[in-house]
Amino acid sequence: MESLRIITEEHQNLWRIATTIDLVADEIEAGGKVDPAFFGSVFDYIEQFVDRAHHPKEDDYLFRILRQRSAEAAVILDRLQAEHHNGPENLKALRRKLAEAAGGGEANSQFVAALRNYTQGLKGHIRAEEKDAMPLAREVLTAEDWAEIDRAFLDNADPVFGEKASAEFRELFHRIASLAPESVGLGARSGGELQPGAGPRAGDVLLSVSGLESCYGRIKALKGIDFEVRRGETVALVGSNGAGKTTLLRTLSGVQPASAGRIYFGGDDISGLRSDLRMKAGICQSPEGRQVFGPLSIEDNLRLGAYTQPKSQVPEDLEKVYAMFPILKEKRNLPAGTLSGGQQQMLAIGRALMGRPKLLLLDEPSMGLAPLLVQEVFNVVKALKAQGMTIILAEQNAFAALAIADRGYVLETGNITLSGTGQELISNEQVRAAYLGM
Ligand SMILES: Nc1ncnc2c1ncn2[C@@H]1O[C@H](COP(=O)(O)OP(=O)(O)OP(=O)(O)O)[C@@H](O)[C@H]1O
Ligand SMILES: [Mg+2]
Repeated sequence: MESLRIITEEHQNLWRIATTIDLVADEIEAGGKVDPAFFGSVFDYIEQFVDRAHHPKEDDYLFRILRQRSAEAAVILDRLQAEHHNGPENLKALRRKLAEAAGGGEANSQFVAALRNYTQGLKGHIRAEEKDAMPLAREVLTAEDWAEIDRAFLDNADPVFGEKASAEFRELFHRIASLAPESVGLGARSGGELQPGAGPRAGDVLLSVSGLESCYGRIKALKGIDFEVRRGETVALVGSNGAGKTTLLRTLSGVQPASAGRIYFGGDDISGLRSDLRMKAGICQSPEGRQVFGPLSIEDNLRLGAYTQPKSQVPEDLEKVYAMFPILKEKRNLPAGTLSGGQQQMLAIGRALMGRPKLLLLDEPSMGLAPLLVQEVFNVVKALKAQGMTIILAEQNAFAALAIADRGYVLETGNITLSGTGQELISNEQVRAAYLGM
């Protein structure tokens, strides 16, 4: 089923493009200019990759065979293939609207509407393929079917989607990244090698960590970490499964003991301080897996986050959190366990905010959430950042985290192996290959 893996990967890149288009549409709506070069490269990519390679490859192999094997397939595939068929026309319409929008005015908002309509269609299409078509294929296709489909998908000599074509698509993708507005976070400009430990931006240091180690029994999970966070910065900690992100955050908040090293917070050595005192000093964590207390009401969960704070400020802080997450206010008296995964994540962040953090630690806030909710969670992080909050954001979702971070550190098996600005890391070849799937 290599073919499904390939399709899923391609979907991830398309989803990023769609999300990027949405972000740029937001900017245009807020008064930004329409950049014909950026959209030109996006539309070229969609035309050459999506319409001429990705869709035909699905149609000619996966979908063709799926129709032969299952009577139910037609219902699902008729819609998907009609969308494939309409792709080029839709794109032409978008290009026309782009040309008109270059004149500004009314055409501008029509272009934005057309963009949103397009990305909504694209995302809906991707979801339907993954939710309906792929599970059916897994169920009904035989080993021989998969062999045939995979052979086609892995044919590196294929002129439409083989190695040479793929290199061209990658090139186009990078061009989009280089043309995307800086604020969107895809706009990587510098590339090449980075110095491990590249210095942080100017501003005063809030957190400074040196030689930090932490162990689980005889296993050393952190092997001497040095890093700094400045006031107002959003710092991403990226790294794959088991790299040590959670251990690092837990060692900072004091729930996990350090076996060596020093932690300075606001100039004070807090290395020996208990976790509740660190929380009182302003280090508040939204833990991995959310860990809300299911049977307790939402409001009581939030109150727990304020247990190191004076009682008098709790009502005011509750209102602030409710203003940020209206859904929590609406459901304030219900057990937290009744919330959806995304809402529980909001609750976990809200609970951390109740401690009046000077440094907010977010451990994988996007974990296990549907793509659209991931976007929402990152919007929350962006809003907090805009308010001047200092944030450490640990994420396996490296692309999204680096896109909104000022700086990032790459963790690998307990060591920091790379650091730089979010932009630098996104454009770094090593990072791209290892974490961004490009
Ligand atoms: N409670 C534990 N007992 C023993 N070893 C642990 C424990 N928790 C983590 N480890 C080990 O410590 C290392 C770092 O794990 P950690 O959970 O910090 O990684 P992570 O980067 O947060 O990973 P993920 O992306 O999966 O959350 C891993 O080798 C892991 O197996
Ligand atoms: Mg973790």
